[in-house]
Amino acid sequence: MRNVTSETITQAFLDYCGEDTDPRLKFLLEKFAHHLHDFVRETELTHDEWRKALELLYKAGEISTPERNEFVLFSDVIGLSSLVDMVNSSEDGTPSSVLGPFHILGAPDVPVGADLKGGNVGATVIVGGRVLSSDGTPIEGAELEIWQTADNGLYSNQDEAQSDYNLRAHMTTEADGRYLFSTVRPAPYTVPDDGPVGELLHATGRRPWRPSHLHFIVTAPNHSTLVTEVFPSDDPYLDEDPVFGVREQLIMEYQPNDNADDVPAD
Ligand code: BEZ
Ligand code: FE
Repeated sequence: MRNVTSETITQAFLDYCGEDTDPRLKFLLEKFAHHLHDFVRETELTHDEWRKALELLYKAGEISTPERNEFVLFSDVIGLSSLVDMVNSSEDGTPSSVLGPFHILGAPDVPVGADLKGGNVGATVIVGGRVLSSDGTPIEGAELEIWQTADNGLYSNQDEAQSDYNLRAHMTTEADGRYLFSTVRPAPYTVPDDGPVGELLHATGRRPWRPSHLHFIVTAPNHSTLVTEVFPSDDPYLDEDPVFGVREQLIMEYQPNDNADDVPAD
């Protein structure tokens, strides 16, 4: 098309897509172009603002490594990751929440009732529950991947002082769907804020602190996989999670317990 204008450019872009374009791809591109082009028209985006946005993306590329993906972090802090979670979450059952970048495969298999705390310093917590199907039937043999920070707010793969699989486990539920373990109370921590995502957070007065949480991935045959996390009700950062992971149903309450016999033995 010649004589493209600010009003016709969106359609011109779509008309350039070939006949054989996959229909879903075409649909996604159509929506994407509409929203992005409208954004520019509505905001009357300046060259300087556009250059700044591209510069942030360039810096995200520069700082990204196999261990640190700044683009994922961008998606997290602008709410995109959580929104994708929400639109793909089923109405019933435990809500899903962000996976984050710190999960690693290969955590040791531990039995129900295991102690993950070992020599870690910090308060001991006992975590237990049942994995149920959406109709309430307990699921035996559901598999749980569990990971969390140590008391210093670091995951094992961020901290040379921790062993590779410290505070990580793979557990299979018992006949009544039960899981149980003792561990150290996880600590709040900051998402990486020394790159362009941090620049955005600081420019908008946002703090990088995530409330403390325990991560879970739950899988069971013939069921969809659940990626989620649980948060304690007394965490000071519940209402400002920079990655929008907190849902009311994922908030749990720590109950004081002085009975040492309740702590699973290693
Ligand atoms: C996490 O919970 O591990 C996490 C999630 C999003 C960004 C950074 C960390
Ligand atoms: Fe986390």
